[in-house]
Amino acid sequence: MISIKSPREIKLMKEAGHINYLAHQYIEKFIKPGVTTLELDRLINSFVTNHGGYCSCYHHDGFPGHTCISVNDEVVHGIPSKRKLRSGDIVKLDFTVRKDGYESDMTRTYLVGEVSEDVKNFVLRTEEALKVGLSVVKPGAKIGDIGYAISNYARQFGYGVVEELVGHGIGTDMHEDPEVPNFGEKGKGHTLKEGMTLAIEPMINMGSKDVCMLEDDWTIVTDDESYSAHFEHTIVVTKDGYEILTGE
Ligand code: MF3
Ligand code: CO
Ligand code: CO
Repeated sequence: MISIKSPREIKLMKEAGHINYLAHQYIEKFIKPGVTTLELDRLINSFVTNHGGYCSCYHHDGFPGHTCISVNDEVVHGIPSKRKLRSGDIVKLDFTVRKDGYESDMTRTYLVGEVSEDVKNFVLRTEEALKVGLSVVKPGAKIGDIGYAISNYARQFGYGVVEELVGHGIGTDMHEDPEVPNFGEKGKGHTLKEGMTLAIEPMINMGSKDVCMLEDDWTIVTDDESYSAHFEHTIVVTKDGYEILTGE
């Protein structure tokens, strides 16, 4: 069932989403060669807690961290650890913030130190893929329109669009209906309606689209070890388009 949120619920999701946005702004200055992903996890958790939110990835289905931190060929659900970031790495920070019973979900891919031009362009284009996906959101549009726009944009560069992992509805639960794939056909799937809240999140690989799970049963990596990038916003469908809830 796809729920329609009331103005009151949307306001609460925006409060949660704003803390999520602020936490991303805050953490950027700490992302340098030498920092461990566990240090970043702790800093984000303290910031979110101090701002009245809760890092709801913590123990979600048993996840052993407050945030998902995935480096280079790790696509999603990386577990914070003693791994030190190195110059040339890219790191995805993906976390949910819960406040007053409502969730928000936001991801950004960050560059560590000096990153090659190819990789920089790849990360910028993945961010652009999210914007392209958002640009088709309005009442009457279909879920398939979003995935079509994202995959059509990303594939022109020869990148792989991950198919096993998808965006989703969001609200009182982190994951609600509908699924929002990053590929699809125009005009197919559920119809978007004012008041639907969605997490849209392209996961794009520099190489093949194929992914697999590591032995820790959480971390998803690319099959060919190519780099993967990920951007995510929580949005609400409005009367004539959408509004980002994980924003300023
Ligand atoms: N934030 C992820 C998403 O975009 C989900 C995290 S799963 C968890 O859907 F177990 F780590 F919480
Ligand atoms: Co997320
Ligand atoms: Co999500």
